[in-house]
Amino acid sequence: MKIVIGSDHAAYKMKEHIKEYLKNKGIEVIDEGPYSEDRVDYPIYAKKVCEKVVNKEADYGILMCGTGLGMSIAANKVKGIRATLAYYPKMAELARQHNNANVLVLGGRTMGFELAEWTVDTFLETSFEGGRHEKRINLISEMEENL
Ligand code: RB5
Repeated sequence: MKIVIGSDHAAYKMKEHIKEYLKNKGIEVIDEGPYSEDRVDYPIYAKKVCEKVVNKEADYGILMCGTGLGMSIAANKVKGIRATLAYYPKMAELARQHNNANVLVLGGRTMGFELAEWTVDTFLETSFEGGRHEKRINLISEMEENL
């Protein structure tokens, strides 16, 4: 499995932590930055990560900013991205089961590292249920074409 990650300054430390956490599990990680805690603009990193996901250069993306809100808004502007903010594992589980989320968003200032680890694990280990949810995902894709 290959994961692409990115953050802003507010979640830089969480990004570094999650990167090492995933690498220690044997998961390949592409780090799209930033590479220091200097102040940056989160949409730039949302775009970098989401491009890798839609181009199938990674299986999933993980984005982090202070709250996760800005990254969620920015990521969902990219065609083909279903980014979901998850503050605890159950949200990540449902994001995969019902929403077939391909980008997980975490809040660097709203979650501890341990909770972030559990949330990431749940996201990566849970499959899309399909069925009635497939139709709803398709309706979202149609919005990308027609709005
Ligand atoms: C940065 O101060 C903060 O606004 C950002 O990390 C994020 O929380 C935006 O949604």
